Amino acid sequence: MAEHAPPPPSSGPAAGEAAADAQKEMAAVAAAGLLSDGMSVGLGTGTTVSHLLPAIAARGLSGLRCVASSPGSEELARSVGLPVVDLEAVQGSLDITIDGADQIAPDGWLIKGGGAAHTREKVIAAAARRFVVIASAAKPVTALSPPVPLEILPFAGAYVLAALSPTRLREGPPSPDGNLIGDYLGPVDDPVQLAARLSGTPGVVEHGLFAPDLVSDILIGTAEGVVHRRGARPAAS
Ligand code: 5RP
Repeated sequence: MAEHAPPPPSSGPAAGEAAADAQKEMAAVAAAGLLSDGMSVGLGTGTTVSHLLPAIAARGLSGLRCVASSPGSEELARSVGLPVVDLEAVQGSLDITIDGADQIAPDGWLIKGGGAAHTREKVIAAAARRFVVIASAAKPVTALSPPVPLEILPFAGAYVLAALSPTRLREGPPSPDGNLIGDYLGPVDDPVQLAARLSGTPGVVEHGLFAPDLVSDILIGTAEGVVHRRGARPAAS
């Protein structure tokens, strides 16, 4: 007897998840369309980026050099045939970085780090001439809310938890660089002040607040198509 796949659900949580996944894929495909031959490309981490990597491979571009922000992204990139190199191989400078986000505020602040890779992600965002955020329609928010991910030096764990209470350590693997991952659970009403406080706490390697001036473009997949928001970062010359 022939086997048939069940029809896709038309309502309920599974349908919502499938719709969000389709929106992530739309944004990812649009971002892959920004690449051209010979570019150095920073690759973020997460489910949205997992749509990006095959979309880049499908472009069939030549001479790409990709720098991955996590072992997972590196493995997936290699599995679809994308060449992955170290940041040193591109002299610390990238043409473009593309990555997902957990929350996108109206003024362009992002929260990232749901996948524990925000330190490397911030490095490749800053190292790129253009930083493009890709997301489903669920990611734009009216106001940022906790948690804000933290990467913490293991030696400093107890101090950081006390200094930044309420903060909780995540269970699970350490960061790609062997550090602790935690989440700051206090208010995020003033991201400028909070980012300065988190950065100013010894032992915090990096936090997941990304300032608007890091972001060049935001591509949001929606039921109506991909919506493009320009970020506060000036266009690269
Ligand atoms: C990983 C990240 C991700 O970009 C963020 O968590 C969004 O993930 P997803 O695309 O799975 O929704 O910051 O550290």
